[in-house]
Amino acid sequence: MTKITFIEHDGTEHTVEAVNGLTVMETAIRNMVPGIDADCGGACACATCHVYVDEKWEDKTGERSSMEQSMLDFASDVEASSRLSCQIKVSDALDGLVVRLPEQQG
Ligand code: FES
Repeated sequence: MTKITFIEHDGTEHTVEAVNGLTVMETAIRNMVPGIDADCGGACACATCHVYVDEKWEDKTGERSSMEQSMLDFASDVEASSRLSCQIKVSDALDGLVVRLPEQQG
């Protein structure tokens, strides 16, 4: 089972079990992690699933797609490590993944 840790802006950590094949966003919703609203349901059209990927994991989570980049252009507090969590698929390779939540999604 793949484990993912979500860290809220205030430092509160949520380590949850993730199902391979789902997205990081779906994992957060299933586990009621606060701060991931996912208004568009994972269609890469809202940016309310914005997370910062821990730098150790950036290689494994891959690059932003061009559609994802377009959405992030309109998001606030975007950093180099910003990703839309609905665009990251869970797999064994992501066991131990750590993502942080932006302040405005607290
Ligand atoms: S859930 Fe809307 S962009 Fe990710």
